[in-house]
Amino acid sequence: MLILGIETSCDETAAAVVEDGRVIRSSVVSSQVDLHAQYGGVVPEVASRAHVDLVVPVVADALVEAGVELRDVDAVAACHGPGLAGALLVGVSAAKALALVARVPYVGVNHLEGHLYAGWLEQPDLATPMAVLLVSGGHTMVVAVDGPGDYRVLGETVDDAAGEAFDKVARFLGLGYPGGPVIDRLARDGDAAAIPFPRAMPGELAASFSGLKTAVVQYVRANPGFRVADVAASFQEAVVDQLLEKLALGADQVDAVSLVLGGGVAANSRLRARVQELADATGRAAFLPPLALCTDNAAMIAATAYHRLAADGPTPLGAGIDPGLRLT
Ligand code: KG4
Ligand code: ZN
Repeated sequence: MLILGIETSCDETAAAVVEDGRVIRSSVVSSQVDLHAQYGGVVPEVASRAHVDLVVPVVADALVEAGVELRDVDAVAACHGPGLAGALLVGVSAAKALALVARVPYVGVNHLEGHLYAGWLEQPDLATPMAVLLVSGGHTMVVAVDGPGDYRVLGETVDDAAGEAFDKVARFLGLGYPGGPVIDRLARDGDAAAIPFPRAMPGELAASFSGLKTAVVQYVRANPGFRVADVAASFQEAVVDQLLEKLALGADQVDAVSLVLGGGVAANSRLRARVQELADATGRAAFLPPLALCTDNAAMIAATAYHRLAADGPTPLGAGIDPGLRLT
């Protein structure tokens, strides 16, 4: 079964063709990062307009790369939430139109569920129960996964997402957007123990990053001669310490046998190293997906759609988008 997936929830226009929910036949991602960099973050209206321009060529590329035509696909899926309303509408409308033309089912997919499936795409034999740390610019949560469609959110951030904290701190330091990769790079030359930034909500599965962001601002204002590498390293260590504690607590709670990372912040070198250390220290398997599967992509949407279609059937064409959709 071939599923064409479309992802337009934020600032990546993506399309992919996935076979039987496992084999990626093509995965095309067109990033709008350069477009938004001048504003220091994603501008929703700019994102929607760019999706309108890009969605048709990106879908065409995905079909060509997969060596198939629209009439060969068995279903068309799109991410219908959570995300930016205008951006989601573009992908969902395109998917419905293509499904109508091809006379195949349309499947609406939860973006977060997509991120959870990304691990299976690369490693179909991942052992469960697993504890997944999903960390992106919009989300920070620990999820227990027992199998396809079988998951529970164990804890999530009460304010900023971890990626958002990286982006806001980088912006304050004048380092540009997106902030995560720059801070990751600068931190390598810094002393992670130089500044004792706070680790919020110890002992709890919920996380918080807005106080940490404020602490960085206060430190920089009070110390005009600060070393940017030390601030980057100390800030990053505070984020990673907090994330690791949540992941460890969640994994213990559900007796997880594997630890999985997902979302754009999963690219962070320090986070990857520390998750591997935690897995080694506790006798668990760690799965750190390649970057292309961590960040937003449509292969994860098409793969999830395969399981959704089998479990729930097609999504009615009358169903809309849900910008605030949650993982339940
Ligand atoms: O999943 P993603 O591509 O988009 C969504 O937010 O859904 O994640 C983007 C986020 C940004 O906040 C970016 O700063 C962060 O991932 N990020 C990183 C790194 N690379 C990207 N954060 C920390 N370290 C990195 N190396
Ligand atoms: Zn995402």
